[in-house]
Amino acid sequence: MNVMPRDLHKQARERAYSMPLSEINVADPELFRTDTMWPYFERLRKEDPVHYQAEHEFGPYWSITKYNDIMAVDTNHADFSSEPSITIVDPKDDFRLPMFIAMDPPKHDAQRKTVTPAVSPMNLEHLSPIIRERAAGILDSLPVGEEFDWVDKVSIELTTMTLATLFDFPWEDRRKLTYWSDLATAGPNSPLFISPEHKRGQLMECVNYFMTLWNERVNAPPKNDLISLLAHGPSTRNMDQMEYLGNLILLIVGGNDTTRNTISGSVLALNENPDQYAKLRENPSLIPNMVSETIRWQTPLAHMRRNATRDVELGGKTIKKGEKVVMWYVSGNRDETVIERPNDYWIERPRARQHLSFGFGIHRCVGNRLAELQLNIIWEEILKRFHTIEVTGDVTRVPSSFVKGYEHMPARLHAA
Ligand code: HEM
Repeated sequence: MNVMPRDLHKQARERAYSMPLSEINVADPELFRTDTMWPYFERLRKEDPVHYQAEHEFGPYWSITKYNDIMAVDTNHADFSSEPSITIVDPKDDFRLPMFIAMDPPKHDAQRKTVTPAVSPMNLEHLSPIIRERAAGILDSLPVGEEFDWVDKVSIELTTMTLATLFDFPWEDRRKLTYWSDLATAGPNSPLFISPEHKRGQLMECVNYFMTLWNERVNAPPKNDLISLLAHGPSTRNMDQMEYLGNLILLIVGGNDTTRNTISGSVLALNENPDQYAKLRENPSLIPNMVSETIRWQTPLAHMRRNATRDVELGGKTIKKGEKVVMWYVSGNRDETVIERPNDYWIERPRARQHLSFGFGIHRCVGNRLAELQLNIIWEEILKRFHTIEVTGDVTRVPSSFVKGYEHMPARLHAA
C-alpha cells in the first residue's frame, strides 16, 4: 500500500507523542529514510533533552537534542572524547580504521594541520574557476525538458570532480571515489552492502589503489594535493596501511556525501518553498545566505558521537565515565528556543551561518568553506541558465541516521 507522505507524518507525530519516552530511539535508520524523525526530536527537546536510551543494538547511548547542550559537548573535548568513534556504531575490533576525526589532541591537531593547506583560502581561490568551469559543463550537458536523476547527474558529478582534484586522482577513475564513499557509510540496509567481508575487501582495494598514488607522490617534491600532503607530513608520513585507509575514508566521505546532499537538498527545499525560489530567482545576491540556510535545513551529517572521559553533569543528568553521547545536530538545528522559525526554510534568515551542521570546537569541519564555495558556484551557474529545476516525483532518502541525504531525485529543467 502506498502511504501518502502527509499521512506518514501524521502517524509519526501521533506515535512520537503517545509512546513512552524511554522507548524513543531516534537512531532508527527507518525514521531517516521516511523523513519522520522530526516529532520524536521535538518531543525529546521539550521533555527530555538529555535522553538516555538504555537499549539499542549498538549499546546504550545518550541523545543530546538541544542547540546549547550540543555546543557544550562539542566544545569540550577534554570531557567528551572522539575516540574510539564519531558515529553511534562502535568500530569492530578486527577492523579498526584510525582517522583524525576520531582522535583527540595532540595527534588529532597535528594530522588536521597536515591536510589544512588543501582547503586554505589560497587554494580555494585557485579552485574556484576550476569548479565554475565544471559546474557550467555539467549544467550545459543536461537534457532540458526531460526527466533525469539530479543526484547522479549533478550533485555526485560536481562533488566527485572536486574531490578528484583535491586528491589529484586519476580523472577517468573518479567514480571509484563515489563508490568508496557510499560503501564506507553503507549499513546493512543499503543496496551497496553485500556482507561485512565484501565491504572490507572493497575497502582494501581502495587502499591498494591509493598506495600506488602514495608511492608516486612520496618520491616527488611536496605538492598541495591531499595525498602528497599526507605522504610528506611529519605526523602522517609513517602511518600504517589501516591509518592511511582511515584518513582516506574521512577525506572521501567528508568531501563527498555532505556537499552532494546539500546540493540536492537545495533543489528540494526550493521546490517545497516556491516563494523562496521566486525570491532567489529575482535576487541572486541572496545565494550565499540561501546556501547557509540550506546547510542548516539539510544538516547533511545528522549526528556526531563522543565518549565521556569522566562523570559529567549535563541538563540535570549525570553522564557516567565511558558512556556514549550522541549530539544530534539535526535536532539542534531545529531548536525553537535558539533558532527563529526553525522549521521554515527562509533564505533571508538573519545570521544564517549560525547552525550546527559543521560542528564546533577542535573538530569543526575543515572543508566548510569549500562546501559553501561549491554550493555558491553551482547556484550562480544554475540561475544564469534555468528558470526552474522542478522535482518531478518522490525522492529516495538514504536509510541512515548518520548521512542524511538522498539516493535519487527525479528532476526536470525549465529554460530561463
Ligand atoms: C555541507 C558540507 C559539509 C558538512 C555539513 C560537513 C560536516 C562536518 C562535521 C559535522 C564535522 C565534525 C564536526 C565536529 O565534530 O565538531 C566535519 C568534520 C570534517 N570535515 Fe566536513 N562537512 C562538509 C564538507 C566537507 C568537505 C567539502 C570536506 C573536504 C575536505 C570536509 C572534510 C572534513 C574533515 C577532514 C573533518 C574532520 C575535522 C577534524 O576532525 O578536525 N567536510 N564535517
